[in-house]
Amino acid sequence: MQENGREQWGTRVGFIFAAVGSAVGLGNLWRFPHLTGSNGGAAFLIIYLIIIALIGITIMLSELAIGRATQLNAVGAFKKLSKKWTFVGVMGVIAGFVILSYYSVIGGWSIGYMVRSLTGVFSGDTAELFGSFVSNTWEPLIWHAVFMGLTIGIVYNGIKGGIERASKIMIPALFIMLIIIIVRSLTLPGAAEGVAFYLKPDFSKVTGGTIMAALGQAFFSLSLGMGCMVTYGSYLSKKENLVSSSAIIPISDTLAAFLAGLAILPAVFAFGFDPSSGPGLMFITLPAVFAQMPLGTFFGFLFFVLVTIAALTSAISLLEVCSAYVIDEWKWSRKKTTLLMGLVIFLLGIPSSLSQGAVNINLFGMDFLSFMDYISNNVLLTLGGMFICIFVGWIWGVNNAKKEITNDGTIKFGLFGVWSILVKFVAPIAIFILFLNSIGVFSF
Ligand code: TRP
Repeated sequence: MQENGREQWGTRVGFIFAAVGSAVGLGNLWRFPHLTGSNGGAAFLIIYLIIIALIGITIMLSELAIGRATQLNAVGAFKKLSKKWTFVGVMGVIAGFVILSYYSVIGGWSIGYMVRSLTGVFSGDTAELFGSFVSNTWEPLIWHAVFMGLTIGIVYNGIKGGIERASKIMIPALFIMLIIIIVRSLTLPGAAEGVAFYLKPDFSKVTGGTIMAALGQAFFSLSLGMGCMVTYGSYLSKKENLVSSSAIIPISDTLAAFLAGLAILPAVFAFGFDPSSGPGLMFITLPAVFAQMPLGTFFGFLFFVLVTIAALTSAISLLEVCSAYVIDEWKWSRKKTTLLMGLVIFLLGIPSSLSQGAVNINLFGMDFLSFMDYISNNVLLTLGGMFICIFVGWIWGVNNAKKEITNDGTIKFGLFGVWSILVKFVAPIAIFILFLNSIGVFSF
């Protein structure tokens, strides 16, 4: 299927797997469980679900509509609809570049841990172990190179033969592994307490900060705010149903995050660890859990395979955003683009990798990796999301968007009125408040 000579997804299911692959990543397996762990368990979960339903789905639909309407990369898409708004796409490509550079470093750690788990080294002080692993000069860099190499290898083969084919294998595998780990986790003695924490809301822990954390997490987890879904939507045929896709993707992503919490938190409780240990939960607390668990070596290995796969299907979407821009706008070949872009992003990741203890690289009081993470999440994605809403709500206009979303009136879109209000008012205002909060103008 080629319309105007541009590549397209082979099947609808293939597109859904690829988009779910983009969404399900380190955000679900690493960030969501530790945020839930330190923000009141089920209370955080409930707030997160509300935000996904109101704001996540709204922006998902907006991004897919922009992409499918223009059949162009993030920059080209905005440029085509309104020249003045090209900057939103440019910000998106920059965000993709920046995020992938450090995302690949963490993906590399996950490969390193996958290999290490086989040798059963997780006994002893796992915090010390993690510290000595990441502060090494060469080992994390080599894994970063391996991770980036795998990412390039998939994107190099194009939409249907690369991204879609890889996602159709990796996403089902991911859900199966997750379920195996959940069964293990829930059958541990003492797991019930963790389940209770996870499913019984404690609203006393909810503050304005909790809501902000949930909103930021929704963006990152759904791959929103930087034209990723614009790019994936641009490979959709004019016959696809955008309304149902924009619900299926967030529902699957949220299910994956929910399951990740169910896999991780009960096990953490069962062995008496602290669920609110923060970002170290995945690389420090969990290895200690696996060290004590019956068959822990096997489950530890399986877990890090899972994390690596999830990170990889997200990384390919980040590289695709940057590559699609170069392929469409500079008319480079896909092969040359992915190799060169991948190399440059790898190089940009080097300071992030080294900043974890090997070399002292600080910017504004943060190590380089944390700085890249901060800039992309708190500035680029949040502002990007806000501009996308304003653009669709007020510039391109909800009626033009409606035409695209309903395939020129042939598909029903019963919630058009609700969506219009969300995209014009609720989402941009909520995001603006998040932005002010996250750059520290005020704090809850
Ligand atoms: N959603 C992915 C995760 O949860 C990360 C990711 C992939 C992403 N593509 C993105 C985040 C685009 C923001 C924008 O790990």
